[in-house]
Amino acid sequence: MIEANPPTVDLRLVESEQRYQAVIENASDMIQSVRADGTFEFVNRAWRTTLGYTDQDLARMTVWDIIHADSMGHCQIEFMRVMRGEPIDSFTTKFVAKDGRTVPIEGSVTSRFLGDKVVATHGFFRDITERLRARELEERAALLEREERARYLEKMAALGKLSAGLAHELNNPAAAVQRANAGLRESLQRRDAAMRSLANAGCSFTGWQAIEAILGRVQPARSDVHETDPIALGETEAGIESVLEDQGIERAWELAPAMAEAGITTGDLAAVVASVPAATLPGAIGWISETLVVRESTEIIAQSSRRIADLVQAIKGYSHMDRATEHDADIHEGLENTLIILAHRLRNVDVQRQYDRTLPPIRLYGNTLNQVWTNIIDNASDAMDGSGRIAIRTWAEDGRAIVEIEDNGRGIPADALPCIFEPFFTTKPQGQGTGLGLDTAWRIVTEEHAGTIAATSEPGRTVFRVELPITQPGSEGAATEIPTANERTH
Ligand SMILES: Nc1ncnc2c1ncn2[C@@H]1O[C@H](COP(=O)(O)OP(=O)(O)OP(=O)(O)O)[C@@H](O)[C@H]1O
Ligand SMILES: [Mg+2]
Repeated sequence: MIEANPPTVDLRLVESEQRYQAVIENASDMIQSVRADGTFEFVNRAWRTTLGYTDQDLARMTVWDIIHADSMGHCQIEFMRVMRGEPIDSFTTKFVAKDGRTVPIEGSVTSRFLGDKVVATHGFFRDITERLRARELEERAALLEREERARYLEKMAALGKLSAGLAHELNNPAAAVQRANAGLRESLQRRDAAMRSLANAGCSFTGWQAIEAILGRVQPARSDVHETDPIALGETEAGIESVLEDQGIERAWELAPAMAEAGITTGDLAAVVASVPAATLPGAIGWISETLVVRESTEIIAQSSRRIADLVQAIKGYSHMDRATEHDADIHEGLENTLIILAHRLRNVDVQRQYDRTLPPIRLYGNTLNQVWTNIIDNASDAMDGSGRIAIRTWAEDGRAIVEIEDNGRGIPADALPCIFEPFFTTKPQGQGTGLGLDTAWRIVTEEHAGTIAATSEPGRTVFRVELPITQPGSEGAATEIPTANERTH
């Protein structure tokens, strides 16, 4: 009997095989061996744990069953490469786990040869789900940060635009006050001089009465009595000038227009000429004309300071500096304040108001709704390049306040319309629009005020419609619910 080979060689082989199996089985990477026909030869524990398939499952499967449909084409090409004996050092793809999860993996693939023939591929993979998720979170955080920064810059830019406009609006009346005030000082000096010359020349009581009569007649405001027909005004002016010249009054051509505009007639002057001695006439005319300038200047100062006060009031109302955060308000107040604030943008725009003044108040949260009107009107003004027509309509419908703002600008193209409320959507050249105006408006209307905002457009007619809940009498603000379907509509 021939004894079997001594067992030492087999035992060593077995031991070596067991050692490698243990290493493979316990490796933290997913390891798979796939035959040339795609069936599985073996997979390790990490592979089974990650993907969830059992040995019985694998017996009926090929590698193509675990590859995600998106990666199929790419994997087939790579598999062919490995089957040609080319190793792949860096490989990423997506597997599908037994429970349907997509598992992104990365790793390497090598070939196993029998002679010069490739009989199997060996894959070594890591599940990179967590890494991708972390990267995604990082990217999202960076995006949010960028968005927040862009919103902040948009706010600053809006503030900048607003203050530039306001500075311009305030500058006109302020400059008018300064001019009128400077003129007033000089006029008062000249009037004092006229008064002195009148007194020195010994103006009689009748003379004074004649002067006062003229000034009394053109009181209180020259604008109430002055001649509006330019031809008639020109004739009066010429008449006054010739009366003054006849009497040897200096600067007649300069005095005549203001007198004619104030409503003084040649008859009035003739009465003065008749009532005062010739020596007092220059003083009398000087007194009259300077008094008219003083009145004119004080009128300009009054009107301009009223305008400044109105603007300040509008700014206060616009920003609600004087209001509590949550309050009920007439929607027209905000619209009007916004129109005053945007007056510099609307100089050549015909703003038509069709307000339902019986509209009940609505609940405002802070000052933000004015930002909505600002952004819509600002866009309308852009769309008509500064000149055209804007109609603002308000009315109540089904317990809601409706505000429609229509412009006759170029309109929103059909393909842009679904995107206009998206953040950063803009058709304006870089530096002119950030695309956050309507995104901000959408947030304020839907998220802060439980309303809706939508737009319709065709060339020459774009309508933004904002609907807001009307405050219920006696409600404390919690009466309105924010709609759950906050889809951005157009
Ligand atoms: N009344 C309108 N007429 C025509 N197009 C409009 C009108 N309103 C909005 N749009 C379009 O919608 C886009 C988005 O408007 P949005 O106000 O959000 O951003 P923007 O005006 O471009 O920039 P900004 O952030 O400075 O407001 C605009 O770029 C414009 O193409
Ligand atoms: Mg805008």
